[in-house]
Amino acid sequence: MCVSNVLFILTGSIAGYKACAAVSQFVQDGHVVRVVMTEAAQRFVGRATLEGLTGQPVATDLWEPGRAMEHISLTRWADVVVVCPATANTLNKLAAGLGDDLVGALFLARESGQPWLAAPAMNPAMWTHPATVAAVEKLQTWGVRFIEPGRGRTACGETGEGRMAEPENVVAAVEAALAKPAKRLKVLITSGGTAEPIDGVRVLTNTSTGATGARLARYFQRCGHDVTLLRARTAVAAPVREVTFGSYAELAEALRTRLSGGDCDVVIHAAAVGDFRIEAVKVAGEVQPTGRKLDSSAPLTLELAPQPKLLAVLKTWSPRPLMVVGFKLTNGSTREQGRQEALEQMEAGAVDLVVHNDLAEQREGVFPAMIYRRGEVAGVACADRQELAFHLEQLLNPT
Ligand SMILES: Cc1cc2nc3c(=O)[nH]c(=O)nc-3n(C[C@H](O)[C@H](O)[C@H](O)COP(=O)(O)O)c2cc1C
Repeated sequence: MCVSNVLFILTGSIAGYKACAAVSQFVQDGHVVRVVMTEAAQRFVGRATLEGLTGQPVATDLWEPGRAMEHISLTRWADVVVVCPATANTLNKLAAGLGDDLVGALFLARESGQPWLAAPAMNPAMWTHPATVAAVEKLQTWGVRFIEPGRGRTACGETGEGRMAEPENVVAAVEAALAKPAKRLKVLITSGGTAEPIDGVRVLTNTSTGATGARLARYFQRCGHDVTLLRARTAVAAPVREVTFGSYAELAEALRTRLSGGDCDVVIHAAAVGDFRIEAVKVAGEVQPTGRKLDSSAPLTLELAPQPKLLAVLKTWSPRPLMVVGFKLTNGSTREQGRQEALEQMEAGAVDLVVHNDLAEQREGVFPAMIYRRGEVAGVACADRQELAFHLEQLLNPT
């Protein structure tokens, strides 16, 4: 069975004792469990109990000295987050987007594809209160999955719906959320910009950061695929197997080596490959030697020649069928123009999916993109990189 990082959040309900049984089960199943408790939760179950069950420190305070960034790091660490028991108070706070405690801040810092589950536990009147009903609906639209409470006698002595699901049902729901893909793909992702040496210290490059490739690599790995990130040395890193490159030639060689080995199912070619190679560096008409630092006082002439498109040859390097995802970046194009360019790239036959995005639409954290698939007229719209990762994984690995 595969081991996952489970972030378990307890809030203030008598059902906290049932949550301890679920925590214990996760640990016995081999998962790594970290616990967060609200102040109210600690009035029902001792912190020492959870530390003992998990063998890990329990986080309770947004402001704890030395652990101030846990509201980000814990959510990045987690493969899945479960709020259990989930009080009416916490559900309403999360739906309101409040971040004044550790639980609220963790939720706000969540990456959009990360599974969050909630096992509500409360008095039937609290569960059916319009505020709670609206909060649940809102959280569902944000992707939170609810582990339905059962009917019966609640701790307050009233009968109705609101009784927390049994621990084994909580564990089953979390396991289902962690389910690995039907097929584990070997995925090679390229990212960042190539850099052509002008001399021993200067390069001709582009503005690619590699953020998209890094995000895709993390997501595909989290989905259980075997991921290698082939990234530019200056590009954003990711906690996956990495190989770095500098120039076009290094990238081409790295791709050829890995693909000709024949154990790759998919290439997601997100790298910004330079369109030109440097044919010659000249000062006053004279070709300069490579490898040393050129004098900056004299005017310099670069002779550039177009590079062959790597995308066009990737499939030919693989001895077995290879899915290729290409990227088409336009600048100030309409969506229709982008679609046409994406389809043209696909007609050449070298790619199966094309991601189109337009530079003019990109802003900090905003990355609208369309995914086009061979033989289909309509594309899949993605609001940001996380959605892009989600849809690409679904398209490449349909269940
Ligand atoms: C004995 C007792 C039992 C409680 N049980 C619940 C419960 O099951 N569900 C719930 O939503 N609130 C329950 N509450 C109220 C919450 O503990 C209270 O709203 C608290 O502020 C929740 O804080 P939290 O959401 O930050 O954990 C209970 C309170 C008491 C005193």
